[in-house]
Amino acid sequence: MLFAYVAFSAIWVYPEGILSLRSGKHHAPTMNYNTYLKNYPDKDGRFGVYGGAMLPPELIPAFEEISMAYQTICHSSQFINELRRIRREFQGRPTPIYHCERLSNKIGACQIYVKREDLNHTGAHKLNHCMGEGLLAKFMGKKRLIAETGAGQHGVALATAAAFFGLECEIHMGEIDIAKQQPNVQRMKVLAAKVVPVSHGLKTLKEAVDSAFESYAKNYKDSIYCIGSALGPHPFPLMVRDFQMCIGVEAREQFLEMTGMLPDAICACVGGGSNSIGLFAPFLADDVTIYGVEPLGRGTAMGDHAASMTYGEKGIMHGFESIMLMDESRDPAPVYSIASGLDYPSVGPEHAFLHDLGRIKYETASDDEAMEAFFKLSRYEGIIPALESSHAVAFAMKKAKEMGTGSILVNLSGRGDKDLDYVIEKYGDGSQFMD
Ligand SMILES: Cc1ncc(COP(=O)(O)O)c(C=O)c1O
Repeated sequence: MLFAYVAFSAIWVYPEGILSLRSGKHHAPTMNYNTYLKNYPDKDGRFGVYGGAMLPPELIPAFEEISMAYQTICHSSQFINELRRIRREFQGRPTPIYHCERLSNKIGACQIYVKREDLNHTGAHKLNHCMGEGLLAKFMGKKRLIAETGAGQHGVALATAAAFFGLECEIHMGEIDIAKQQPNVQRMKVLAAKVVPVSHGLKTLKEAVDSAFESYAKNYKDSIYCIGSALGPHPFPLMVRDFQMCIGVEAREQFLEMTGMLPDAICACVGGGSNSIGLFAPFLADDVTIYGVEPLGRGTAMGDHAASMTYGEKGIMHGFESIMLMDESRDPAPVYSIASGLDYPSVGPEHAFLHDLGRIKYETASDDEAMEAFFKLSRYEGIIPALESSHAVAFAMKKAKEMGTGSILVNLSGRGDKDLDYVIEKYGDGSQFMD
């Protein structure tokens, strides 16, 4: 199965002429989703008007090298079999789907299901692409993995991949996130990763990306930059999507087997967009409504949220073109979310494309709604979700009420152990969120 979707989506075939894309948002050309994964991104890493690779000249060969190496290994049965073995024996895949009956019954008749990415080794979906990136680094003869992290989940997953493959690891993390996500910082250190604190700007995810990029530019000959989401310059949006698609491929099969049909709706939280595109891509050709859930934080004012797709516009940042939140000077705007893994001022280019096509709807959940979902999923189902994933659960709870019947599948991208100290300090026993 893995071979099929890794190789299939990595073959760059030119668009077949069924598209008539124009730049700008809210334009909806006709699209054949049965051939979509074959056609996007195109050979330049473009999803319509988004994506690409806007790089300083010295880094162009480095990204071309990564791109060519990926094209080679994604067709290699040796690589694919090794990744399959790692997923089964080391990661604990496939992760199950679970029917949240008690939570559903508290809301009404619509049934909520969760895809348990929190049960992945290291506690989140991030390991899905990190093990792939680690294997790629090994193939390329690199000795160091470099990345940024927000919530620390990508950092922990990459440090784990580095330990597994016997590579060095350097993780850049904003000082605010370091203070908020201490358990993950300790885990990275135990795994022998070098954690580089980032103390400029808002000291969160965007600054961590700047810092990791800078370090990679100095060390690209012996290192590989393992971007933590389905964004950045080509080929990362493609590679991360391919590696994360195990979520949706498994979920589609499991849901059919469990219920005899597909869900009416699926949803996932959107930071940079990796767990969500991993769930969504295998459902694109189905009659299933798809929702990406962005963080509304404290409210709609600039600086109080990180809902890039909802409030952003087309721009360029960190080497790719997408929808992003910008200030009047078109610099990345300050962003905020209670979930450190969601406070990024942009989103992967494929999301921007699918948004404009109208295939995915983007909605928001606030800090308070996410906290209510955090406590309700914990107390009604015995599952403590990550604050990032709590945004998707919050939306599913809202939507289930609105739908009244049918089913909704939520990607539970990670577990909440990393968030406990922060949550308890800020919200106490959470009784204010229970009915
Ligand atoms: C558990 C979890 N879910 C979701 C995200 C958001 O990232 P993405 O949108 O790439 O899935 C993060 C990021 O750190 C995370 O840790």
